[in-house]
Amino acid sequence: MRIIRAKDYNDMSRKAANIIAAQITLKPDSVIGLATGSTPIGAYKELINKHKEGNLDFSEVRGVNLDEYKGLTKDNDQSYDYFMKDNLYNHVNIKAENCYIPNGMAEDDDEECRRYDELLETLPRDLQLLGLGLNGHIGFNEPSDVFAGGTNLVQLTDSTIEANSRFFESYEATPKFAYTMGIKGIMSARTILLCVSGKSKAQILHDLVNGPITPQVPASILQLHKDVILVADEDALSLM
Ligand code: GLP
Repeated sequence: MRIIRAKDYNDMSRKAANIIAAQITLKPDSVIGLATGSTPIGAYKELINKHKEGNLDFSEVRGVNLDEYKGLTKDNDQSYDYFMKDNLYNHVNIKAENCYIPNGMAEDDDEECRRYDELLETLPRDLQLLGLGLNGHIGFNEPSDVFAGGTNLVQLTDSTIEANSRFFESYEATPKFAYTMGIKGIMSARTILLCVSGKSKAQILHDLVNGPITPQVPASILQLHKDVILVADEDALSLM
């Protein structure tokens, strides 16, 4: 794992955006795995700026998202589909048909998971951007007794629902289930770019890098990936 130290959130965002932009410049039709949450928002802003300055072309890029809440329509402003449009896609020249995300309104869960896994096979990711949940989840792969292989429907843990509830009216209104790319899907990306910011993530980041590989800390499996770039700020790295 390569560790890139950033001063603070803005510095982390700049460094992460530079890596994504380099990937797209080197291979204009890159398949980029994209993440939601507050962590990547700054990097997305930097990418938008690069695009607006004429230095970054998304016309051949394919974006494949990690996860989506079950039960939220695409036009719900808390859906991850909406998030991606709002924070990145609507501001760059990516083609709508090149943006992929699980369908939160799918009728058949198994069928939707199968569909997404087939899609991942046809679109091997050159670079997978990841944030880190407070409990060590990646995508929405929560701590568990086993590593989930393929795309799956997850029952979110209380700590995740609590963390996500800041975006909803109440805990009750916060979705309790989500579709997520599985650990196998995430690990199949050629390069993984993990971004972590803030003191609240320091302990879990320490466990991810130095602790045992265990499904109780799903992100610890990244220790087995051959090409992980961790971009983290001083606060997040404070226990390393
Ligand atoms: C959600 C997303 C994850 C994200 C995590 C951390 O659970 N499904 O992909 O990494 O939140 O969010 P934040 O970046 O806001 O701390």
